[in-house]
Formats: sequence, structure tokens, C-alpha cells
Amino acid sequence: MRKKVIAGNWKMNMLPNEAIAFIEKITPEVKHTKNDVILCVPYTDLFYSLLIAQGTNIKIGAQNMHFEEKGAYTGEVSGQMLAAIGVKYVIIGHSERRQYFAETDDTVNKKVKSALKNNLTPIICVGETLEQKENNKTIEVITNQTKLALDGLNLKELENIIIAYEPIWAIGTGKTATKEDANNSIKEIRKEIEKIYNQDIAEKTTILYGGSVKAQNAKELFEMSDIDGGLIGGASLKPEEFIKIVNYNEN
Ligand code: PGA
Repeated sequence: MRKKVIAGNWKMNMLPNEAIAFIEKITPEVKHTKNDVILCVPYTDLFYSLLIAQGTNIKIGAQNMHFEEKGAYTGEVSGQMLAAIGVKYVIIGHSERRQYFAETDDTVNKKVKSALKNNLTPIICVGETLEQKENNKTIEVITNQTKLALDGLNLKELENIIIAYEPIWAIGTGKTATKEDANNSIKEIRKEIEKIYNQDIAEKTTILYGGSVKAQNAKELFEMSDIDGGLIGGASLKPEEFIKIVNYNEN
């Protein structure tokens, strides 16, 4: 049985004092959940967040990393650096990075490999644009992105990845994929993994849905057969909302 994962993506939001207050506020409210709780925070919040989350069930992740270990890459942060301070997760290939920061399938693949080498679990984002959706290209686009992101990984490495299916037209727009469409896309990603590797690993891989997940729609999405939880942007900035999403399967 795959465990449900609720991952917040704060994007470029939250100052350290806000991050600390947020984590302190949600800690007692999420401590009994069976779900994995991850917060992917800006680099400048990592250290404070790791300290405050110590001893809790809240795990801290970054939102990006460079694929080289070190060197003359002004302004960049490597997987080795993240791992050295205790980070365990890192979002790779978010559509905002693909769109605004020239992230390509090739850099995504290099980053995934470097993350795994440093014992970080990459949360690999794939998703189609509105135009691709309207041209019935969704499955082709997301299975291809998946294949390229995983290129060259061995079976053992595949045990430590998370994939997030995030239709770009649903991110921050208030538009959510229907639960059936989201589930179907995720099934196709799983089939692609089965094609490249095998059924066993395809069944074990955690695949999240992201794109305007809120407390109000979390349950119906996460109860679908293949949706293993969510990558949550806007709603992860509001503690009450995030608590409700984490506890969507309580009672
Ligand atoms: P959203 O963002 O929940 O605000 O749509 C999701 C994401 O970008 O990961």
C-alpha cells in the first residue's frame, strides 16, 4: 500500500519568522496523521524550518537545486549542500522553473540523478499546458516528460522518487483537473514506469496531483485509486487550510 503524501510548495513566499510561526502552528494539529507531511520552503527558510521541525513528523524540502556538486555557479545551491544541512526532499522541474528559468528535460534528469546521489528524494514535476491539453496531447507530454526525467535511473533509485502530476493550466488558477482526469493521467504515468521498469515498481511509486488543491477538494482527489496525495501551492501558505488538507482522511 502506498502511503499518502501531502507536500506544501511555498514557492517564493514566507520570511523565516513566518516559516517558524507556520510550523509551530501546524505541528500539534498534524502530529497524529498517517500521511507524510512535507514542506518545500525557500532556501532562506530551510535552516530555521529544519530546526523548528526537529522531532516532529513534518519533513522539510527545497524547491530546486543545481545538478553539479560545487563550482563556479554563482547563486546556485547543490544537492550536496542541501543534504549537508539535513534536507531530505527537493522539488525538481516544477513548471514555473521550466517556464521562467529555462529548466529542460535534460537539466531535470541531471538534477534528479544528483539529488538521488545525495540521498535526497526528488519530487519530479510533470504536466501539460492548456494548449497541449486542448490538442489531446496530455498523455503524450506527461509520459515523455516522465521517461526523460527518469532516463538512466536504476530500479533501486526509482524506489526513492516521488512524481507530481501538475497540469500547468491548473496551477494557481483555481481550476482543478477533474478527479477522473487527474487519476487517469497518473495511471498513464504509472504505465510508463511499468513499461520502462516493471509492474512492481510502478505500483510502488508515489505519484501526487498538484494544481489548485484546497481543503474542499483534497478528499475527493486523494481518494482516487492512483492519486497518492498532493503538491500544494497557494493553500499551503494558510495554516488552517493546510492542516485540513493534511487531515483530509481523519474521522
Ligand atoms: P497551486 O500550486 O496549489 O497554487 O495551484 C501547485 C504547485 O505549483 O505546486
